[in-house]
Amino acid sequence: MAIPHRVCIVEVGPRDGLQNEKQIVPTATKIEFIQRLAASGLRTIEATAFVSPKWVPQMADHAEVMRALPRGHGVTYPVLVPNLRGFEAALAAGATEVAVFAAASETFSQRNINCTIAESLDRFTPVFVAARTADIPVRGYVSCALTCPYEGDVDPIRVAEIAAMLFESGCFEISLGDTIGAGTPNRTQALIAATAQRVPLNKLAGHFHDTYGQALANIYASLELGMHVFDASVSGLGGCPYAPGAAGNVATEDLLYMLNGMGIETGVDLDRLLAAGSFICGELGRQPQSRVGRARQKS
Ligand code: HMG
Ligand code: MG
Repeated sequence: MAIPHRVCIVEVGPRDGLQNEKQIVPTATKIEFIQRLAASGLRTIEATAFVSPKWVPQMADHAEVMRALPRGHGVTYPVLVPNLRGFEAALAAGATEVAVFAAASETFSQRNINCTIAESLDRFTPVFVAARTADIPVRGYVSCALTCPYEGDVDPIRVAEIAAMLFESGCFEISLGDTIGAGTPNRTQALIAATAQRVPLNKLAGHFHDTYGQALANIYASLELGMHVFDASVSGLGGCPYAPGAAGNVATEDLLYMLNGMGIETGVDLDRLLAAGSFICGELGRQPQSRVGRARQKS
């Protein structure tokens, strides 16, 4: 399979990144952050999560964030929804795309959304029905697609099964999450090969956390198989509060640097992206965390 000429980057920093910050980031800062990301040319920016504020207080201002975002600039702002209540609140706040999230590991499912995998799929059924009625595309995540923080390595056949259930229920794309960033390129390719038996490869995306420094290698391995959609988080922000030890996602700047070097189009401007990364790191009181950001600071 040829390496794609064009890649779609799904920026997840405002959601995956900020959900895991100890400090609660002010709503106005989140909005400015998202606008700066959009100004870099990113066309899909996961903005927030309509989850329980008791579970993830960092996302409690979801409605305010969504309502403040400009519409009609060719940018889509998907949001996470764990249930029908989240979907309805997202719709009322103006969301035009949502994402449901399941796991391939029972223990993680319990810890993250307080139900079994089967119960989570049942819980999504009314979301699919309501989304179809409202003409809202639904993306699907499968967490722990490579390794679970509680159960260890996960069988790719199990991941493929859950990905297929989400896809057949109506998800337009399935993002395979290496939630704790423990995967390696060989296992990544085995996962994609198994899942592509059940879901068309061009409907799969990669979501690699970088805990063990493998995220870019895993993305390269995925590109080799023809995958062309990758989630990333500016400045490598992120992690999941219910996945102990998980580091952030692959830094969007580092992913873009690699794709630019390979001549793969994304439509994203590296300097503007670096500026968005510097902005949020400044607000969080830390130095830019991407490798490219750090290299540029020294040069
Ligand atoms: P629960 O406690 O089992 O459910 O939580 P509940 O129905 O008893 O609700 C508990 C409270 O939350 C109630 O409030 C509900 O009303 C309220 P109370 O009556 O006690 O005052 N509630 C809600 N509030 C706002 N919005 C809602 C909502 N639903 C219920 N939608 C639940 C179940 C799913 C709600 C909870 O477990 C939850 O919100 N979990 C979210 C966890 C989360 O956001 N994790 C991080 C995102 S996933 C991730 O990071 C992985 C990913 O990046 C991919 C990867 O890396 O692998 C996507
Ligand atoms: Mg994640």
